[in-house]
Amino acid sequence: MGRAPAPHYLRPASVAEALAQRAAHPGSVWLGGATLMLGGLAGPRPDVIIDLCDAGLGRLDVGTDRVHIGATVTVDRLARCEALASPELAALHDAVCGFVPRAVRRIATLGGNVGQGFGSLIAPVALLDGEVELVGPAGARTATVATLQRGADELIVGFGLRGRPGEVTGFDKIRRTPLGPGLVTVAAALGPAGVRLFVGALSMRVQGFDFPGAGVDDVDEVAATVDAGLQAVFDDPRASALYRRAMAGELVRRLLLRLSRPPLAPTIASHRPVLPPDRFAGPAGASPSGVSSPGVSPPGASPSGASPPGASPPGASPSGASPSGGSLQRVVWTAIVDGVEREAAIPANASLAEALRAAGSLALKIACGEGTCGACSAVVDGDHIHSCVVPAMRYVGASVTTAARHADGPVVTALVTSGGLQCGFCTPGMVVAVHALVDRDDVQATPAGLRRGLDGNLCRCTGYGLLVEGAANGLQALRERALLARSAAVSAALTATAAGSADGSAKDRS
Ligand SMILES: Cc1cc2nc3c(=O)[nH]c(=O)nc-3n(C[C@H](O)[C@H](O)[C@H](O)COP(=O)(O)OP(=O)(O)OC[C@H]3O[C@@H](n4cnc5c(N)ncnc54)[C@H](O)[C@@H]3O)c2cc1C
Ligand code: FES
Ligand code: FES
Repeated sequence: MGRAPAPHYLRPASVAEALAQRAAHPGSVWLGGATLMLGGLAGPRPDVIIDLCDAGLGRLDVGTDRVHIGATVTVDRLARCEALASPELAALHDAVCGFVPRAVRRIATLGGNVGQGFGSLIAPVALLDGEVELVGPAGARTATVATLQRGADELIVGFGLRGRPGEVTGFDKIRRTPLGPGLVTVAAALGPAGVRLFVGALSMRVQGFDFPGAGVDDVDEVAATVDAGLQAVFDDPRASALYRRAMAGELVRRLLLRLSRPPLAPTIASHRPVLPPDRFAGPAGASPSGVSSPGVSPPGASPSGASPPGASPPGASPSGASPSGGSLQRVVWTAIVDGVEREAAIPANASLAEALRAAGSLALKIACGEGTCGACSAVVDGDHIHSCVVPAMRYVGASVTTAARHADGPVVTALVTSGGLQCGFCTPGMVVAVHALVDRDDVQATPAGLRRGLDGNLCRCTGYGLLVEGAANGLQALRERALLARSAAVSAALTATAAGSADGSAKDRS
């Protein structure tokens, strides 16, 4: 009899449990959304992962003088928070709305963005006097975001932010490609006391600048001071230090000019998504201090929602070690895929895309494997996500839709008849993404609308012209079909009511 293999996917129900699991597994990593950790952008995939999605850190409170954001609040939930669009807080709102693609934004968390050390949200959080709430083996503490030095075993549980009355704030960044990482990020505030700003970029700590008494007439001077005063700017294959410096100054200039024009010129922040509620939202009253989340159970979880440190994830059953899985334990993963119950034996740190393909859903493709291209698009419990950057074990028992469900649908027909595909590798992801747009009233069924709506799906062959034309036709056909179905349902209901009244009248007469 061999020793039972150690579990590798842990899902604590509270902060206290998360810390206990961390202590028991020294090589483990915290998972917020997992977009960085599973996608490979952060290096080799970790063996022992502690998924914080049920740890009670999903609270978002906008008070009159303070905003509290739990560590697992997603970027998308922040983008949908109207209160954050106020001028004093708009820097964070701009930044989360500029975080694309939406399929990644629905998963990525603020805790993960700050936890990685170089996220684009650090500069706006710093500008809003951001404090980080941390817990670790030595207890709880708060620290300033701009100067955060996090201990290896410390967990970010939340953030406290505040806007300063009278200030108008904003955010801008420069990327080399539409979905690439920010090369330079700037969050700035313009107010009666002057100008304040924070500049950040990959691998560079955010740097703050204060210009008391400065105003919009001083933008050139402010921009030049930032250009000259930036420290630790680095060269890398994406951009030279010289370019980063120059762009920081230019971004500062543009941003301050924008902030000086009331009412605010339309920004990326005006593209408000219409989306379903957040999957990480904590229950009202849940505390970031480590209290578990009563009433919020993961799929397949025990009614208590609690699991002891080191326990297997809910719904998963160890299937014994597999030589092909390396040192990793394999677990049996189950889900309802395209209406059919499927299962697969997977390593416990597999991505959802890998689990789906292991379970036989070969319509779903894996291309980049790091969240960028959308080939692995799937709709999970109603949300369109990139399935290669989420842990499969988070979705045990979930309902998953892939392109196979729509194989005979109007979107496939429209793409084929428009000539909107060549090699076809991106097509399944495109089909899922177009279907996910049906109820998005901010996306028009036109080629221009589809260029925006398909913001997370890339195609290497078609040049997009015929593809977006076909996608627009497909979306139009889907919406007409949905309209017809609704009309038929209303007619049926009216007919039933009329029949009921006629029956009632007949009875009254008899
Ligand atoms: C297509 C694409 C586009 C992207 N666009 C952007 C962008 O515009 N701006 C940007 O900044 N990033 C971007 N990213 C990178 C990444 O997705 C984000 O930075 C995201 O916010 C990371 O959050 P997460 O919850 O997914 O982090 P995870 O991958 O879960 O974690 C990231 C790191 O933080 C640690 N961590 C997570 N939660 C905590 C916690 N509570 N306490 C302590 N440590 C923690 C993890 O251990 C890990 O080291 C993009 C990624 C992709 C794939
Ligand atoms: S986004 Fe998942 S494979 Fe590219
Ligand atoms: S048709 Fe080849 S990647 Fe889109």
